[in-house]
Amino acid sequence: VTPTSDQHEVPLPLPIRSGQGDYEVRFHASPRAALETSITGAIGVIADAHVLEVYRDEFGDLLASVPVLELDATEETKTIEGVASTCSWLLSLRANRTSRVVALGGGVIQDVATFAAHIYHRGMRWDFVPTTLLAMSDSCIGAKCGINHDGFKNQLGVFQSPGAIEIATGFLNTLDDVELRSGYGEVFKLCLTHGPEAFEHLEQALRDGLRNDDLVALTRLSLEAKKHVIEEDEYEGDLRRVLNYGQTFGHALEAVSHNGVPHGLAVIWGCDLINFIAFSKGLLAESDFVAIRQVATSLLAGMVPVPAFTAAELIDAARTDKKAEGTRVNLAILYAPGDLRIVQMDFDEDLAPLIARYLEQDVLLSRN
Ligand SMILES: NC(=O)c1ccc[n+]([C@@H]2O[C@H](COP(=O)([O-])OP(=O)(O)OC[C@H]3O[C@@H](n4cnc5c(N)ncnc54)[C@H](O)[C@@H]3O)[C@@H](O)[C@H]2O)c1
Repeated sequence: VTPTSDQHEVPLPLPIRSGQGDYEVRFHASPRAALETSITGAIGVIADAHVLEVYRDEFGDLLASVPVLELDATEETKTIEGVASTCSWLLSLRANRTSRVVALGGGVIQDVATFAAHIYHRGMRWDFVPTTLLAMSDSCIGAKCGINHDGFKNQLGVFQSPGAIEIATGFLNTLDDVELRSGYGEVFKLCLTHGPEAFEHLEQALRDGLRNDDLVALTRLSLEAKKHVIEEDEYEGDLRRVLNYGQTFGHALEAVSHNGVPHGLAVIWGCDLINFIAFSKGLLAESDFVAIRQVATSLLAGMVPVPAFTAAELIDAARTDKKAEGTRVNLAILYAPGDLRIVQMDFDEDLAPLIARYLEQDVLLSRN
Protein backbone atom coordinates (compact mmCIF):
# COMPACT_ATOMS: atom_id res chain seq x y z
CA VAL A 1 0.00 0.00 0.00
CA THR A 2 1.42 3.36 -1.04
CA PRO A 3 0.48 6.59 0.68
CA THR A 4 -0.56 9.42 -1.65
CA SER A 5 -0.59 13.17 -1.36
CA ASP A 6 -4.19 13.39 -0.12
CA GLN A 7 -3.42 10.96 2.73
CA HIS A 8 -5.65 8.26 1.31
CA GLU A 9 -4.01 4.95 0.78
CA VAL A 10 -4.02 3.55 -2.73
CA PRO A 11 -3.76 -0.23 -2.89
CA LEU A 12 -1.21 -2.02 -5.00
CA PRO A 13 -2.22 -3.14 -8.50
CA LEU A 14 -3.84 -6.54 -8.86
CA PRO A 15 -2.52 -8.65 -11.75
CA ILE A 16 -5.00 -10.96 -13.49
CA ARG A 17 -3.90 -14.00 -15.48
CA SER A 18 -5.96 -14.65 -18.59
CA GLY A 19 -5.71 -16.97 -21.60
CA GLN A 20 -6.44 -13.92 -23.74
CA GLY A 21 -3.48 -11.99 -22.26
CA ASP A 22 -2.72 -11.00 -18.69
CA TYR A 23 -3.93 -7.63 -17.49
CA GLU A 24 -3.81 -5.43 -14.41
CA VAL A 25 -6.28 -3.66 -12.16
CA ARG A 26 -4.74 -0.41 -10.94
CA PHE A 27 -6.00 1.90 -8.21
CA HIS A 28 -5.95 5.70 -8.31
CA ALA A 29 -6.39 8.47 -5.78
CA SER A 30 -9.00 10.33 -7.84
CA PRO A 31 -11.44 9.80 -10.73
CA ARG A 32 -9.48 12.29 -12.78
CA ALA A 33 -6.21 10.37 -12.31
CA ALA A 34 -7.89 7.11 -13.34
CA LEU A 35 -9.42 8.62 -16.47
CA GLU A 36 -6.27 10.50 -17.46
CA THR A 37 -4.17 7.32 -17.25
CA SER A 38 -6.67 5.39 -19.32
CA ILE A 39 -7.35 7.84 -22.15
CA THR A 40 -3.74 8.73 -22.89
CA GLY A 41 -3.16 7.36 -26.38
CA ALA A 42 -6.69 5.96 -26.73
CA ILE A 43 -8.69 6.35 -29.95
CA GLY A 44 -11.87 7.28 -28.11
CA VAL A 45 -14.04 6.91 -25.02
CA ILE A 46 -17.37 5.08 -24.80
CA ALA A 47 -18.96 6.89 -21.88
CA ASP A 48 -22.06 6.84 -19.71
CA ALA A 49 -23.86 10.09 -20.59
CA HIS A 50 -24.95 10.64 -16.98
CA VAL A 51 -21.40 10.23 -15.67
CA LEU A 52 -20.21 12.76 -18.26
CA GLU A 53 -22.85 15.18 -17.05
CA VAL A 54 -21.93 14.74 -13.37
CA TYR A 55 -18.18 15.06 -14.04
CA ARG A 56 -18.39 17.73 -16.78
CA ASP A 57 -16.40 20.31 -14.79
CA GLU A 58 -13.84 17.82 -13.54
CA PHE A 59 -13.20 16.06 -16.86
CA GLY A 60 -14.09 18.74 -19.42
CA ASP A 61 -10.55 19.59 -20.51
CA LEU A 62 -9.41 15.94 -20.47
CA LEU A 63 -12.25 14.81 -22.70
CA ALA A 64 -11.92 17.74 -25.10
CA SER A 65 -8.86 16.03 -26.57
CA VAL A 66 -10.45 12.68 -27.46
CA PRO A 67 -13.59 11.55 -29.35
CA VAL A 68 -16.39 10.57 -26.96
CA LEU A 69 -19.40 8.37 -27.67
CA GLU A 70 -22.15 9.17 -25.14
CA LEU A 71 -24.47 6.29 -24.31
CA ASP A 72 -27.40 6.09 -21.90
CA ALA A 73 -26.73 3.43 -19.27
CA THR A 74 -30.02 1.64 -19.86
CA GLU A 75 -30.87 -1.96 -20.67
CA GLU A 76 -32.05 -0.77 -24.14
CA THR A 77 -28.50 0.36 -24.93
CA LYS A 78 -27.21 -3.12 -24.09
CA THR A 79 -28.49 -4.62 -27.37
CA ILE A 80 -27.24 -5.53 -30.83
CA GLU A 81 -28.40 -2.06 -31.93
CA GLY A 82 -26.30 -0.37 -29.23
CA VAL A 83 -23.29 -2.49 -30.17
CA ALA A 84 -23.84 -1.78 -33.90
CA SER A 85 -23.87 1.99 -33.38
CA THR A 86 -20.74 1.70 -31.25
CA CYS A 87 -19.04 -0.20 -34.11
CA SER A 88 -20.17 2.49 -36.58
CA TRP A 89 -18.59 5.12 -34.34
CA LEU A 90 -15.33 3.10 -34.21
CA LEU A 91 -15.39 2.84 -38.00
CA SER A 92 -15.91 6.60 -38.29
CA LEU A 93 -12.76 7.04 -36.19
CA ARG A 94 -10.94 4.60 -38.53
CA ALA A 95 -10.10 2.41 -35.56
CA ASN A 96 -8.11 -0.67 -36.44
CA ARG A 97 -6.90 -3.79 -34.63
CA THR A 98 -4.08 -1.89 -32.95
CA SER A 99 -6.35 0.86 -31.59
CA ARG A 100 -7.41 1.02 -27.98
CA VAL A 101 -10.81 2.20 -26.81
CA VAL A 102 -11.77 3.19 -23.26
CA ALA A 103 -15.07 2.43 -21.52
CA LEU A 104 -16.17 4.86 -18.79
CA GLY A 105 -19.20 3.84 -16.74
CA GLY A 106 -20.82 0.89 -15.01
CA GLY A 107 -21.82 -2.60 -16.11
CA VAL A 108 -24.04 -1.44 -18.96
CA ILE A 109 -21.29 0.53 -20.69
CA GLN A 110 -18.86 -2.31 -19.96
CA ASP A 111 -21.11 -4.88 -21.67
CA VAL A 112 -21.57 -2.77 -24.80
CA ALA A 113 -17.87 -1.92 -25.02
CA THR A 114 -16.77 -5.53 -24.47
CA PHE A 115 -19.08 -6.87 -27.18
CA ALA A 116 -18.13 -4.15 -29.68
CA ALA A 117 -14.40 -4.56 -28.98
CA HIS A 118 -14.72 -8.32 -29.47
CA ILE A 119 -16.30 -8.17 -32.90
CA TYR A 120 -14.67 -5.02 -34.29
CA HIS A 121 -11.99 -6.21 -36.72
CA ARG A 122 -12.20 -9.57 -34.91
CA GLY A 123 -11.00 -8.04 -31.66
CA MET A 124 -9.46 -4.78 -30.47
CA ARG A 125 -8.20 -3.68 -27.09
CA TRP A 126 -10.61 -2.08 -24.64
CA ASP A 127 -9.66 -0.55 -21.28
CA PHE A 128 -12.06 0.22 -18.47
CA VAL A 129 -12.64 2.99 -15.95
CA PRO A 130 -15.50 1.60 -13.82
CA THR A 131 -17.75 4.10 -12.08
CA THR A 132 -20.14 1.88 -10.06
CA LEU A 133 -19.38 -0.38 -7.11
CA LEU A 134 -20.66 -3.40 -9.04
CA ALA A 135 -18.28 -2.72 -11.93
CA MET A 136 -15.30 -1.95 -9.65
CA SER A 137 -15.65 -4.84 -7.27
CA ASP A 138 -16.86 -7.56 -9.61
CA SER A 139 -17.71 -7.24 -13.29
CA CYS A 140 -14.53 -5.43 -14.43
CA ILE A 141 -12.52 -8.66 -14.31
CA GLY A 142 -13.49 -11.95 -15.86
CA ALA A 143 -13.90 -10.82 -19.49
CA LYS A 144 -17.56 -11.82 -19.62
CA CYS A 145 -20.29 -9.72 -21.17
CA GLY A 146 -23.95 -10.12 -21.95
CA ILE A 147 -26.32 -8.07 -24.04
CA ASN A 148 -30.10 -8.26 -24.19
CA HIS A 149 -31.96 -9.72 -27.13
CA ASP A 150 -35.66 -9.84 -28.06
CA GLY A 151 -36.51 -8.55 -24.60
CA PHE A 152 -34.52 -11.28 -22.79
CA LYS A 153 -31.63 -10.28 -20.59
CA ASN A 154 -27.99 -11.17 -21.31
CA GLN A 155 -28.84 -13.66 -24.07
CA LEU A 156 -25.88 -12.88 -26.33
CA GLY A 157 -22.35 -12.65 -25.08
CA VAL A 158 -18.65 -13.06 -25.66
CA PHE A 159 -15.49 -13.30 -23.61
CA GLN A 160 -13.04 -10.47 -24.28
CA SER A 161 -10.71 -9.51 -21.48
CA PRO A 162 -9.83 -5.85 -20.98
CA GLY A 163 -6.32 -4.46 -21.52
CA ALA A 164 -6.24 -2.61 -18.19
CA ILE A 165 -8.64 -1.41 -15.52
CA GLU A 166 -8.19 1.91 -13.74
CA ILE A 167 -10.16 2.18 -10.50
CA ALA A 168 -10.93 5.24 -8.39
CA THR A 169 -13.43 4.64 -5.61
CA GLY A 170 -13.95 8.42 -5.56
CA PHE A 171 -16.52 7.82 -8.32
CA LEU A 172 -18.76 6.27 -5.67
CA ASN A 173 -19.22 9.67 -3.98
CA THR A 174 -21.68 10.59 -6.74
CA LEU A 175 -23.36 7.19 -7.06
CA ASP A 176 -26.78 7.11 -5.39
CA ASP A 177 -27.46 4.96 -2.35
CA VAL A 178 -29.60 2.36 -4.13
CA GLU A 179 -26.88 1.72 -6.75
CA LEU A 180 -24.25 1.62 -4.01
CA ARG A 181 -26.25 -0.91 -1.97
CA SER A 182 -26.81 -2.96 -5.08
CA GLY A 183 -23.04 -3.01 -5.73
CA TYR A 184 -22.57 -4.22 -2.17
CA GLY A 185 -24.51 -7.32 -3.24
CA GLU A 186 -21.50 -8.46 -5.26
CA VAL A 187 -19.07 -7.49 -2.49
CA PHE A 188 -21.19 -9.49 -0.03
CA LYS A 189 -21.25 -12.54 -2.31
CA LEU A 190 -17.54 -12.39 -3.16
CA CYS A 191 -16.44 -11.89 0.47
CA LEU A 192 -18.47 -14.98 1.40
CA THR A 193 -16.88 -17.04 -1.38
CA HIS A 194 -13.43 -15.93 -0.20
CA GLY A 195 -13.43 -16.95 3.44
CA PRO A 196 -14.21 -15.99 7.05
CA GLU A 197 -11.65 -13.17 7.22
CA ALA A 198 -13.06 -11.48 4.14
CA PHE A 199 -16.58 -11.70 5.54
CA GLU A 200 -15.45 -10.31 8.92
CA HIS A 201 -13.75 -7.43 7.10
CA LEU A 202 -17.07 -6.59 5.39
CA GLU A 203 -18.97 -6.90 8.68
CA GLN A 204 -16.53 -4.53 10.42
CA ALA A 205 -16.50 -2.00 7.59
CA LEU A 206 -20.30 -1.76 7.49
CA ARG A 207 -20.37 -0.74 11.15
CA ASP A 208 -19.22 2.67 9.84
CA GLY A 209 -22.03 2.82 7.30
CA LEU A 210 -22.17 2.21 3.56
CA ARG A 211 -19.73 4.94 2.61
CA ASN A 212 -16.94 3.84 4.90
CA ASP A 213 -13.18 4.28 4.68
CA ASP A 214 -12.75 0.62 3.82
CA LEU A 215 -14.53 0.81 0.47
CA VAL A 216 -11.32 0.74 -1.52
CA ALA A 217 -9.95 -2.18 0.51
CA LEU A 218 -13.26 -4.04 0.13
CA THR A 219 -13.21 -3.43 -3.61
CA ARG A 220 -9.75 -4.95 -3.90
CA LEU A 221 -10.70 -7.82 -1.60
CA SER A 222 -13.73 -8.66 -3.75
CA LEU A 223 -11.58 -8.63 -6.87
CA GLU A 224 -9.05 -10.90 -5.17
CA ALA A 225 -11.87 -13.33 -4.39
CA LYS A 226 -13.09 -13.29 -7.98
CA LYS A 227 -9.54 -13.47 -9.35
CA HIS A 228 -9.02 -16.66 -7.38
CA VAL A 229 -11.98 -18.27 -9.15
CA ILE A 230 -11.60 -16.94 -12.71
CA GLU A 231 -7.89 -17.64 -12.96
CA GLU A 232 -8.60 -21.28 -12.28
CA ASP A 233 -11.67 -21.41 -14.47
CA GLU A 234 -11.90 -18.65 -17.06
CA TYR A 235 -14.77 -20.01 -19.15
CA GLU A 236 -17.46 -21.07 -16.67
CA GLY A 237 -16.61 -24.64 -15.93
CA ASP A 238 -17.34 -26.17 -12.56
CA LEU A 239 -15.34 -23.91 -10.27
CA ARG A 240 -16.76 -20.70 -11.70
CA ARG A 241 -20.23 -21.98 -10.85
CA VAL A 242 -19.60 -21.01 -7.21
CA LEU A 243 -20.01 -17.43 -8.41
CA ASN A 244 -23.66 -18.30 -9.03
CA TYR A 245 -24.18 -18.29 -5.26
CA GLY A 246 -27.44 -16.42 -4.63
CA GLN A 247 -28.02 -15.84 -8.34
CA THR A 248 -30.66 -18.44 -9.20
CA PHE A 249 -33.23 -17.17 -6.72
CA GLY A 250 -31.89 -13.61 -6.96
CA HIS A 251 -32.78 -13.59 -10.66
CA ALA A 252 -36.11 -15.23 -9.85
CA LEU A 253 -36.86 -12.45 -7.32
CA GLU A 254 -36.03 -9.83 -9.96
CA ALA A 255 -38.52 -11.55 -12.29
CA VAL A 256 -41.39 -11.94 -9.79
CA SER A 257 -40.94 -8.37 -8.53
CA HIS A 258 -40.89 -7.08 -12.15
CA ASN A 259 -37.39 -5.73 -11.54
CA GLY A 260 -38.61 -3.85 -8.46
CA VAL A 261 -35.60 -5.17 -6.55
CA PRO A 262 -32.21 -3.96 -7.85
CA HIS A 263 -29.97 -6.80 -9.02
CA GLY A 264 -27.38 -6.76 -6.22
CA LEU A 265 -30.03 -6.62 -3.51
CA ALA A 266 -31.86 -9.50 -5.15
CA VAL A 267 -28.61 -11.49 -5.01
CA ILE A 268 -28.26 -10.78 -1.28
CA TRP A 269 -31.82 -12.03 -0.75
CA GLY A 270 -31.01 -15.07 -2.94
CA CYS A 271 -27.97 -15.80 -0.75
CA ASP A 272 -30.09 -15.56 2.42
CA LEU A 273 -32.69 -17.92 0.96
CA ILE A 274 -30.01 -20.44 -0.06
CA ASN A 275 -28.42 -20.10 3.38
CA PHE A 276 -31.80 -20.82 4.97
CA ILE A 277 -32.09 -23.96 2.85
CA ALA A 278 -28.53 -25.00 3.76
CA PHE A 279 -29.14 -24.29 7.45
CA SER A 280 -32.45 -26.21 7.42
CA LYS A 281 -30.71 -29.21 5.85
CA GLY A 282 -27.95 -29.07 8.47
CA LEU A 283 -25.27 -28.00 5.98
CA LEU A 284 -24.61 -24.49 7.35
CA ALA A 285 -24.05 -23.73 11.06
CA GLU A 286 -26.68 -21.58 12.77
CA SER A 287 -24.04 -19.07 13.95
CA ASP A 288 -22.88 -18.47 10.34
CA PHE A 289 -26.46 -18.26 9.11
CA VAL A 290 -27.35 -15.65 11.73
CA ALA A 291 -24.17 -13.55 11.29
CA ILE A 292 -24.57 -13.45 7.50
CA ARG A 293 -28.26 -12.60 7.77
CA GLN A 294 -27.39 -9.66 10.03
CA VAL A 295 -25.18 -8.13 7.33
CA ALA A 296 -27.81 -8.89 4.67
CA THR A 297 -30.43 -7.12 6.79
CA SER A 298 -28.29 -4.00 7.13
CA LEU A 299 -27.70 -3.88 3.36
CA LEU A 300 -31.37 -4.29 2.52
CA ALA A 301 -32.58 -1.82 5.17
CA GLY A 302 -35.01 0.73 3.80
CA MET A 303 -35.78 -1.19 0.62
CA VAL A 304 -39.11 -0.42 -0.97
CA PRO A 305 -41.78 -3.11 -0.44
CA VAL A 306 -42.23 -5.69 -3.20
CA PRO A 307 -45.50 -7.24 -4.41
CA ALA A 308 -46.43 -10.51 -2.69
CA PHE A 309 -45.49 -13.72 -4.53
CA THR A 310 -45.77 -17.43 -3.81
CA ALA A 311 -43.13 -20.16 -3.61
CA ALA A 312 -44.57 -21.67 -6.80
CA GLU A 313 -44.17 -18.37 -8.67
CA LEU A 314 -40.59 -18.01 -7.48
CA ILE A 315 -39.75 -21.57 -8.48
CA ASP A 316 -41.36 -21.07 -11.88
CA ALA A 317 -39.14 -18.05 -12.47
CA ALA A 318 -36.05 -19.97 -11.26
CA ARG A 319 -36.78 -22.86 -13.64
CA THR A 320 -36.16 -20.60 -16.63
CA ASP A 321 -32.66 -19.87 -15.30
CA LYS A 322 -29.77 -21.13 -17.42
CA LYS A 323 -28.61 -23.39 -14.56
CA ALA A 324 -31.87 -25.36 -14.26
CA GLU A 325 -32.37 -28.72 -15.99
CA GLY A 326 -35.97 -29.95 -15.81
CA THR A 327 -37.02 -30.36 -12.19
CA ARG A 328 -33.43 -30.29 -10.95
CA VAL A 329 -31.09 -27.34 -10.45
CA ASN A 330 -27.43 -26.97 -9.59
CA LEU A 331 -27.12 -24.62 -6.65
CA ALA A 332 -24.02 -23.11 -5.10
CA ILE A 333 -24.48 -23.89 -1.39
CA LEU A 334 -22.50 -22.18 1.36
CA TYR A 335 -21.28 -24.72 3.94
CA ALA A 336 -19.23 -22.01 5.68
CA PRO A 337 -17.71 -18.71 4.54
CA GLY A 338 -15.13 -19.72 1.91
CA ASP A 339 -16.61 -23.21 1.46
CA LEU A 340 -19.10 -23.24 -1.41
CA ARG A 341 -20.11 -26.46 -3.09
CA ILE A 342 -22.30 -27.21 -6.07
CA VAL A 343 -25.24 -29.37 -5.03
CA GLN A 344 -27.98 -30.65 -7.29
CA MET A 345 -31.45 -30.29 -5.75
CA ASP A 346 -34.95 -31.04 -6.89
CA PHE A 347 -37.32 -28.09 -7.09
CA ASP A 348 -40.39 -30.03 -6.02
CA GLU A 349 -38.97 -32.44 -3.47
CA ASP A 350 -36.11 -30.50 -1.83
CA LEU A 351 -36.88 -26.87 -2.37
CA ALA A 352 -40.62 -26.12 -2.57
CA PRO A 353 -41.49 -26.81 1.11
CA LEU A 354 -38.44 -24.95 2.42
CA ILE A 355 -39.02 -21.95 0.16
CA ALA A 356 -42.66 -21.79 1.30
CA ARG A 357 -41.44 -21.77 4.92
CA TYR A 358 -38.85 -19.10 4.15
CA LEU A 359 -41.44 -16.84 2.49
CA GLU A 360 -43.79 -17.16 5.48
CA GLN A 361 -41.14 -15.73 7.78
CA ASP A 362 -39.12 -13.62 5.29
CA VAL A 363 -37.35 -10.99 7.37
CA LEU A 364 -35.51 -9.20 4.57
CA LEU A 365 -38.29 -8.01 2.28
CA SER A 366 -41.49 -6.22 3.14
CA ARG A 367 -44.56 -6.86 0.97
CA ASN A 368 -47.24 -4.54 -0.30
N1 LIG B 1 -20.22 -8.23 -17.71
C1 LIG B 1 -20.40 -8.69 -16.51
O1 LIG B 1 -19.62 -9.51 -16.02
C2 LIG B 1 -21.54 -8.20 -15.68
C3 LIG B 1 -21.66 -8.62 -14.35
C4 LIG B 1 -22.71 -8.12 -13.58
C5 LIG B 1 -23.61 -7.25 -14.14
N2 LIG B 1 -23.50 -6.87 -15.45
C6 LIG B 1 -24.46 -5.94 -16.05
O2 LIG B 1 -24.21 -4.65 -15.53
C7 LIG B 1 -25.40 -3.86 -15.58
C8 LIG B 1 -25.55 -3.11 -14.28
O3 LIG B 1 -24.42 -2.32 -14.14
P1 LIG B 1 -24.13 -1.35 -12.89
O4 LIG B 1 -24.84 -1.85 -11.70
O5 LIG B 1 -22.66 -1.17 -12.85
O6 LIG B 1 -24.82 0.00 -13.26
P2 LIG B 1 -25.23 0.76 -14.59
O7 LIG B 1 -24.16 0.77 -15.57
O8 LIG B 1 -26.56 0.19 -14.99
O9 LIG B 1 -25.46 2.22 -14.00
C9 LIG B 1 -26.44 2.44 -12.99
C10 LIG B 1 -26.81 3.91 -12.89
O10 LIG B 1 -25.78 4.62 -12.22
C11 LIG B 1 -25.35 5.73 -13.01
N3 LIG B 1 -23.94 5.94 -12.69
C12 LIG B 1 -22.89 5.14 -13.00
N4 LIG B 1 -21.77 5.58 -12.41
C13 LIG B 1 -22.10 6.69 -11.72
C14 LIG B 1 -21.37 7.59 -10.88
N5 LIG B 1 -20.08 7.41 -10.59
N6 LIG B 1 -22.03 8.64 -10.35
C15 LIG B 1 -23.36 8.83 -10.59
N7 LIG B 1 -24.10 8.00 -11.34
C16 LIG B 1 -23.48 6.94 -11.90
C17 LIG B 1 -25.67 5.34 -14.41
O11 LIG B 1 -25.79 6.44 -15.27
C18 LIG B 1 -26.97 4.59 -14.24
O12 LIG B 1 -28.04 5.48 -14.14
C19 LIG B 1 -26.54 -4.85 -15.87
O13 LIG B 1 -26.95 -4.68 -17.21
C20 LIG B 1 -25.89 -6.21 -15.69
O14 LIG B 1 -26.46 -7.19 -16.54
C21 LIG B 1 -22.45 -7.31 -16.22
